[in-house]
Amino acid sequence: MNKKVLFLYYSQTGQLSEIVNSFVAPFMEAGVSVELVRAKPKNDFAFPWTSDRFFDAMPESVLAIPSAMEKMDFKETKYDLVVFAYQPWYLSLSIPANSILATDEVKRILKDTPVVTLIGARNMWLSSQEKLKKILKEAGANLVGNIALVDRNQNSISAITILHWMMNGKKDSYLGIFPKPGVSDEDISNTKVFGKTVLAFLQKENFDGLQKHLTNQGAVEIVADYMIIEKLAPRLFLIWANFIIKRKNRKAWLVVYKYYLLFALFIVAPIVLTVNAILFRPFSEKSIRAKKLYYQGLK
Ligand SMILES: Cc1cc2nc3c(=O)[nH]c(=O)nc-3n(C[C@H](O)[C@H](O)[C@H](O)COP(=O)(O)O)c2cc1C
Repeated sequence: MNKKVLFLYYSQTGQLSEIVNSFVAPFMEAGVSVELVRAKPKNDFAFPWTSDRFFDAMPESVLAIPSAMEKMDFKETKYDLVVFAYQPWYLSLSIPANSILATDEVKRILKDTPVVTLIGARNMWLSSQEKLKKILKEAGANLVGNIALVDRNQNSISAITILHWMMNGKKDSYLGIFPKPGVSDEDISNTKVFGKTVLAFLQKENFDGLQKHLTNQGAVEIVADYMIIEKLAPRLFLIWANFIIKRKNRKAWLVVYKYYLLFALFIVAPIVLTVNAILFRPFSEKSIRAKKLYYQGLK
């Protein structure tokens, strides 16, 4: 029987579209009935960002407040597989990604349906995936696979280069010195390998063992340092979000938040990670291994 697969996503910069296009190629070659739906907020986020708008997206991202989406046209009411591709914003689902999932139509489609999540991030997606797991569970969906593509450069470097990309709109080298921002062209092109794997499991009508297979192929690489940041930062973001959303002078507080974030990212995080590497890391290899396995899995 011809399988029906829905690819559902939002992409502001076009990077996630490229990732989806690479992933979908083996499905198309195999003649699977593929439907690509690139959703759009009614009031889309202009790209490139201004600094004000970039930080202004924090409270609604962290508090998962959806915004209205343009009508999404689905040919079917039921699919054999849904590939939900998304990007994290502020360690949460991006506002458009969260808004897609908040629609009744998508909730109906997800119910009792196998779902593969495909992430295109800078490097911190663990917390957003935890949130997504909950949303999928509530919708009655069955998460069968996850693939996470990231910027492989060092954390502070990728933070500088992503800000250059977001504020200038060009995914190119900052000052001609820094590496290109975001997910590398090579990793984007390699996504078709994961697409092939998911397709093979779809065709045998059994997704058992899919995640293990994907992990062995390098679809989910976990960096211990980021687990530490993602353990601490979401709580702080939540405090900021709850505080700022209630303020009348939101704009002024967002400026304070901006400097807090830059300080945390470029000063506090390297110190915390260095102290951790010297004092704690040598004694916590076992628990780090266990946590990595957890994040590579689907539970
Ligand atoms: C407002 C904003 C916040 C972001 N926060 C995160 C984050 O917390 N973690 C992360 O890995 N990437 C983060 N990113 C990068 C995005 O996940 C994504 O990779 C990038 O914006 C590419 O855009 P696209 O997926 O819309 O094409 C953020 C980007 C934006 C615009």
